[in-house]
Amino acid sequence: MLDESASFGLSEEQLALALEARKFAQQEIIPRAAHFDETAELPTEILAKAHALGLMNLVQAAELGGTGLGVHDACLVIEELAAGCAGVTTTIVANDLALLPIALGATAEQKQRLIKPICESGALASFCLTEPGSGSDAAGMSSTVRRDGDSYILNGTKQWITNGGVAKQFTVFATLDKSRKHKGICCLAVPGDLPGIKRGKHENKLGQRCSNTVQLNFQEVRVPAANLIGAEGEGFKLAMKTLDWTRPMTATIAVGIARAATAYACAYAKDRKQFSQPIANFQAIQFMLADMATAIEAARLLTLKSARMLDQDTPATLVSSMAKRFAADMAMQATTDAVQIYGGYGYTKEYPVEKLMRDAKLMQIYEGTSQIQRLVIAREMLK
Ligand code: CAA
Repeated sequence: MLDESASFGLSEEQLALALEARKFAQQEIIPRAAHFDETAELPTEILAKAHALGLMNLVQAAELGGTGLGVHDACLVIEELAAGCAGVTTTIVANDLALLPIALGATAEQKQRLIKPICESGALASFCLTEPGSGSDAAGMSSTVRRDGDSYILNGTKQWITNGGVAKQFTVFATLDKSRKHKGICCLAVPGDLPGIKRGKHENKLGQRCSNTVQLNFQEVRVPAANLIGAEGEGFKLAMKTLDWTRPMTATIAVGIARAATAYACAYAKDRKQFSQPIANFQAIQFMLADMATAIEAARLLTLKSARMLDQDTPATLVSSMAKRFAADMAMQATTDAVQIYGGYGYTKEYPVEKLMRDAKLMQIYEGTSQIQRLVIAREMLK
C-alpha cells in the first residue's frame, strides 16, 4: 500500500502506477544507490530496465514510443523513483526535458523523426540551454547558428548538460544574432554523432553524482535545416514553455528526496536512545519531524496542482515556479534536519541521509535557481 497521504485522491490506475514505480525503486534503485553515488557511474542497467517497464519518457506520446502519461501521473512515478535515488531520476527526467521542446514545438513529421527513435530505443537525450557565461540569464547565450543552404552551422559551448556524455541527440538553443536578444534564439535537434561535437569529462559533483553532467562543444557543426524546431527566433519561448512543463517534475524529485530523508529520520529517532529513551520521545525531535512531514505534504500538493494545470492546458508558469521553488528549498531543509536527527552518524557515509542532503542541494540550482523561481513568481504576480 501507498501511505495515506501519497495516495490521496488517486484512482486505482494511478495507485497501481505509483506502486509499480515504488517496487522498481525498492528492488532496482535503492540497493545500488550508494554504489552509483560512490562511483558516479551512469546506472545503465537500471535505465534499461526502467525503459523496458515504461518508466522513461513519461510524458512523451504513446504513439511516439513514450509512456503517454500526463504531467500529474508522471509526477506520481517520479516521486517514487526519486525516493530511491535522485541521480537516477534526474537522468530519466532529463530525457523528457530534452524531448519536450520537440513535442511542444515540432511538426508531426519532426516528432516522428526526432522523438520516436529516442523513445523506442531507450537512448538518452539532452537539453542544451545553459552556457559557461549564461546560466540564469538564459537569453544572454553566445552559441550561434547561421543558415547555410539546407543546413544550420552551429558553434558554441554548452555547460552542465545532463546526459551530455552519452546522449544520442541534443536539443540545442543558439542565436542567429545576439543583438536580437531572446528574439534571435533558435531551437535545433542535433544528432549526437555529427562531426564537430566534443563531449567534456563527467563533472565530479557534490550530489546526484551518477547523473551524467558534461560540457559540450560545437564547432562548425552542420545540422539539417529540417531539424529547426518551430520558427527562427522562437527558441527562447520554447525553452521557457518547456521549463513550465518540467519544473513540476523537478519539484517532484525534491519531494521524493525529502520523503526518503523523513522516513529514515523517523525510523532512526525511534531506534536511537539517549538519556535512556528513544530520541523520538523528545519534542525537539518531534517538532523537526512534524515540520518535515508537513512541508512535504504542502510541496506535493503544490506540485500536483501545477502538474494538473498543465494537463488541463491552463497557463502554469506561476504555479510551476512556486512548486519548484518551494519543493527545492523544502528538500534542502528536510534533508539537513534528517542529518541533524542522526547527529554524527548522519554525517558519515554509513547512513543514507548525507547523500540525500547532497542530492537535495542541486534542486535549488538546476532548472532555474530558487532565486530565479522567485523572480518568475513575482513577475507573474505583478503582470
Ligand atoms: N512561456 C512562454 N513564453 C515566455 C515564458 C513562458 N514561461 N517566459 C517568458 N516568455 C516570453 C516572454 O513573454 C517574452 O516574450 P515577448 O518578447 O514576446 O515579450 C520573452 O519570453 C522574454 O521573456 P523575459 O523578458 O521574461 O526574459 P528574460 O531574459 O528576462 O528571462 C528568465 C527570463 C525567467 C530569467 C529566464 O531566463 C529563465 O528562466 N532563466 C533560468 C534558466 C533556467 O532555468 N535554466 C535551466 C537550464 S535546464 C537545466 O538545468 C536542466 C538540467 O540539465 C537538469
